[in-house]
Amino acid sequence: MTQRILLIISGGIAAYKSLELVRLLRKRGIAVRAVLTESAKQFVTPLSLGVLTEDQVFDALFDLKAEREIGHIQLSRQADLVVVAPATANILARMANGIADDLATTLLLATDKPVLAVPAMNVRMWRHRATQRNLAQLRADGVHVMEPDAGEMACGEYGKGRMPEPAAIAAEIERLLTLPLPVAPLADPLTGQPDFAGDAGPLAGRHVLITAGPTHEPIDPVRYIANRSSGKQGFAIAAAAARAGARVTLVAGPVHLPTPAGVDRVDVETARDMLAAVEAALPADAAIMVAAVADWRTADAAGQKIKKDGSGQPAPLALVENPDILATIGHSDRRPPLLIGFAAETQKIAEHAQAKLAKKGADWIVANDVSGDVMGGDANAVQIVTAAGLESWPVLPKDQVAAKLIEKVANALAARTD
Ligand code: CTP
Repeated sequence: MTQRILLIISGGIAAYKSLELVRLLRKRGIAVRAVLTESAKQFVTPLSLGVLTEDQVFDALFDLKAEREIGHIQLSRQADLVVVAPATANILARMANGIADDLATTLLLATDKPVLAVPAMNVRMWRHRATQRNLAQLRADGVHVMEPDAGEMACGEYGKGRMPEPAAIAAEIERLLTLPLPVAPLADPLTGQPDFAGDAGPLAGRHVLITAGPTHEPIDPVRYIANRSSGKQGFAIAAAAARAGARVTLVAGPVHLPTPAGVDRVDVETARDMLAAVEAALPADAAIMVAAVADWRTADAAGQKIKKDGSGQPAPLALVENPDILATIGHSDRRPPLLIGFAAETQKIAEHAQAKLAKKGADWIVANDVSGDVMGGDANAVQIVTAAGLESWPVLPKDQVAAKLIEKVANALAARTD
């Protein structure tokens, strides 16, 4: 069956590259229907797009003739994937806030299909907190976001923000088209509750406990020990569990991520606080310990800022081991029926994960290779180690890893009780 893309082109200088993108997609046998925003028409014409797509080009919300022939709801759902390329800072902001003030943003709000945003903008606009906040929101909402390239920009500045080359976007589109659909639909935006349109969801009635993010271990009032965990993978798993109908408790270390819809979040700082919050949240049907807990804390955090004394001596820092939350729960009598740990490894991944299974009393260890840019990045290649053996998954966006993992959790819990 021919696969179909709805391509939304917003008004940036990179819009001209979208013509090449259309050509590449058509060459791969993918049908493209294009929508232009008002400002995109300053950069590419409906005529050239119409020729390349061999289809009608849509560019206004209140095109009554088009609305009678094909309504905007229908238009938003006929595609297998909606692609916004280039996605300007402006359209990303409107998407993140659910604003529907033209045809493009109305389609984005009405669609029930996966969305890929391909940002392109000036480096300062890209780095602006507002843009980064909007991108974090979009990712939490399940939108796939491609990283822009770095280089010289049309405006003469140098930095990150250039739209990736059409071939790279086409490859990403092809990859997304091969992915399985998420196991569950998005949360109902009105209630924040998982929206199963009448279906209770595979984890309905289950309590899933998740830890995510780093911990911060204070040294003195202004310094702390930390690590590079962004919390993205744990938050994506919490979102997927909520979409699958579970009651979700997310114990989160210090991260800058919005709370996924339908999730109960408990914010903590230190490993000891995290252990206490986990214990308070039990019992659970499944616990997934994704947090990158600091292994050590200072023996005695100073009440005042520690001053250097100029002696050239090593810093007066004595470290003691933190409790291992996963192992504590894994060997306790309140252990959830399904207990899953994560393992951040840089070498001998499967071997180390296997050893951790027994040491931590876990059922599965999800091992990820952190030798690349997994921490803070949006994709993850994982291997799942269980008593039954090893399963390797391809490199997937973190939200797809989350969806697949939650599907596996739902199956395992169903098998245990049925
Ligand atoms: N973990 C935990 N409490 C700790 C340390 C780790 O709950 N104090 C959990 C993590 O959430 C993760 C798993 O244990 O699910 C494995 O963490 P990993 O990064 O492999 O750390 P370690 O077990 O300390 O192993 P290593 O010796 O490789 O650092």
